[in-house]
Amino acid sequence: MTADSSMMRINVEELESGMVTADNVVEPGTDRVLLLKDTVLDSVMIFNLKERYNVGEVYIKKTFSSSTISEEMKAEINIHQSLSTLKDVFGSDDAKPLTEFTNEAAEQINNVTNDLITSLYADDNILLKMHQLQSYDDYTYKHCLRVAMMSVTIGKSLDLPRNRMHDLCEAALLHDLGKRTIDVDIIRKPGRLTDDEFLAIKKHPQNGYLLLRKNGGYSEEVMNAVLMHHEKFDGTGYPLGLKGEQITYLARIITVADVYDALTSNRPYRQPWSVAEAEEFMMGGANTHFDYDIITAFLNAFAPYPVGEKVQLSDGRRAIVVSTTTNVLRPVIRITSEKGEGEVIDLYNDFKYLTLSIKALESDPVKAKQEGKAI
Ligand SMILES: [Fe+2]
Repeated sequence: MTADSSMMRINVEELESGMVTADNVVEPGTDRVLLLKDTVLDSVMIFNLKERYNVGEVYIKKTFSSSTISEEMKAEINIHQSLSTLKDVFGSDDAKPLTEFTNEAAEQINNVTNDLITSLYADDNILLKMHQLQSYDDYTYKHCLRVAMMSVTIGKSLDLPRNRMHDLCEAALLHDLGKRTIDVDIIRKPGRLTDDEFLAIKKHPQNGYLLLRKNGGYSEEVMNAVLMHHEKFDGTGYPLGLKGEQITYLARIITVADVYDALTSNRPYRQPWSVAEAEEFMMGGANTHFDYDIITAFLNAFAPYPVGEKVQLSDGRRAIVVSTTTNVLRPVIRITSEKGEGEVIDLYNDFKYLTLSIKALESDPVKAKQEGKAI
């Protein structure tokens, strides 16, 4: 290419997040394109150019200033870049099982953690972004990214300090790492698992813990959260059967995010649950499966029925949410259907309506996705 006055060639050491490439970036010695022209660089991309691909110099647009793109856009770019880095680190579920977790992989996860936390503080519209990351070929690395995004959002709602937020996000990104140590045929088996296969899958929390322990660079806090993410608050979980506060705080947060993501994700054998159905289920598990305080923070962060939301009722009528002060799952609504239009119903306090419930949100991102609508 011929350089013009709108661009400059700079050493990768001088690259900064937010700069924009003025030409395709090609892997040295090959013609493989690593980054396309007009890519907004983030710290993970810069790390990969330097450490992984040994790129020397890159053409950058001169006039670009990082303030010309919105915080939301940067957040979105970061989330998609995080996904591709996680894919590199975890490998596809069809790839050979992992036997070690390298320092390079740990460094990449650390970078993704920093980028995700920055993005999630900049952009609250996280539920839609998580659902955009779903697909029918639901690989472990995608699930781990969604669980990390949700865990950080719950952590924010719990006012978790920033330094613990880093541990939380890192542990959530790695919570199912152990699944990548299990035989591919078991992980991707479409039918019913045998007892032995099920036992092999149930080893994934310990396997993930052992990979991190062998790496040597992780705190007890992070490793324990990985080990305990299938424990239940009432002691009926695995692998240790721990109860209540014996389960670390970070593990209790990740459990909530993990189960919610499993319920609202596509599975080969069932449709995803709607946001409303999944949140009703989670509320029902408070104090048995889940820590009550964390469920409360989760429901506050992912308000199932925000004021102004249009909903469908169990009797087929439509309504709009007018207040959520009494109970987040049974708000005050105003009927908008012809039959009973204008009537205001307090679903929590008005016993006449005990059997009436909200069936779905008109704008449920899961349902919208099923129906192929853009979200
Ligand atoms: Fe798991």
